[in-house]
Amino acid sequence: MKILVTDQSGTRHELEGLESWRVMEVIRDWGLNIKAECGGACSCATCHVYVDESWLKRLLPASPEEEDLLYTAPGRQANSRLSCQILLSDALDGLEVTLAPSSAKD
Ligand code: FES
Repeated sequence: MKILVTDQSGTRHELEGLESWRVMEVIRDWGLNIKAECGGACSCATCHVYVDESWLKRLLPASPEEEDLLYTAPGRQANSRLSCQILLSDALDGLEVTLAPSSAKD
């Protein structure tokens, strides 16, 4: 399955991912600029992405822990999510996200 990721410079990437992988892991393993400091433990918010509006309703709701972290994430928007908290499934094949500026490593 594929996800479409727009990086901080506006370049769009089509990335191959596997079922049950975290979106953050796919983005990181393909070498895009994502900090993901805590490695997916839902404690850093440096995997912040903006989810394309057409996909928002297809995601499971954010957990209270994710909501708390997002509240403090720089540049938070209504479509903000933590990419380590989104697990890939067939239903999310083609998911489109944009990396938030605060997710950059440098
Ligand atoms: S990688 Fe730290 S919250 Fe997602």
